Amino acid sequence: MTKKNIKKLLSLKKNNIGISSVTSYDASFAKLADEAGIDIILVGDSLGEVVKGMRNTHSVTVDDICYHTKNVSRGIKNAYLISDMPKNSFNTKREALQNARKITRKGMADMVKIESTPNQIDIIRHLIKNSIRVCGHIGIQPQKIINKKSYRKLGLDAKESQILISEALMLEDAGVQLIVAECIHSKCARKIKNILKIPLIGIGSGKDCDGQIRVIYDIFDISFNGAPGFMNNSKSKNNPVKDLLMGYIESTQKYK
Ligand code: KIV
Repeated sequence: MTKKNIKKLLSLKKNNIGISSVTSYDASFAKLADEAGIDIILVGDSLGEVVKGMRNTHSVTVDDICYHTKNVSRGIKNAYLISDMPKNSFNTKREALQNARKITRKGMADMVKIESTPNQIDIIRHLIKNSIRVCGHIGIQPQKIINKKSYRKLGLDAKESQILISEALMLEDAGVQLIVAECIHSKCARKIKNILKIPLIGIGSGKDCDGQIRVIYDIFDISFNGAPGFMNNSKSKNNPVKDLLMGYIESTQKYK
């Protein structure tokens, strides 16, 4: 297998083959995901919750992202590597470019993901003009939300749906090469996916996107703040990872 690139991800969209993506924050999980054949690995600022144990993503710094991206890059042979630009790291063009360069050069990410607003489109254009590859993020933007209680589906009514479509088109026109859609109503996500030439990767946005992304700890159901409802994880208190640990504890008794 060869290293995935944007051309390959675009061809998956064109051929209607689902793009798979998970987050990772360290070399071991990244290696596991890479060997399983995952197309895109995201060093998400969700690390604020699942690694640091905070209520939200807001405390994550550019240095945190560089540190974790560098570690993840050691575990990857084929997957495309994207890293988040954390909250307040792209307030001005200058600051955004400086931080994006740090993340792509020091962290070795192939692309940065930005939770921008339409007012920040010039910042996105500035990064792209300076050879930084950018992934957009529409719908729920965790950097603007204090905790998960305020999450809701966006794009249910026509007006909100139109706003999301315009945002996606504005990002595509600016030159972003992928867009993540978080917590968007499935009908609206399908419309956006059909309009865009670039891949739309969904999370909590229904099955009709070009691909899906999940926080890897949610897949194992070991996330610090619990997994979101759309994961449909088992209600059982048992967890395979916890079971392995309990098996290990039991085995230690044999040595006594
Ligand atoms: O930070 C993150 O993990 C993300 C995903 C939820 C898409 O942005």
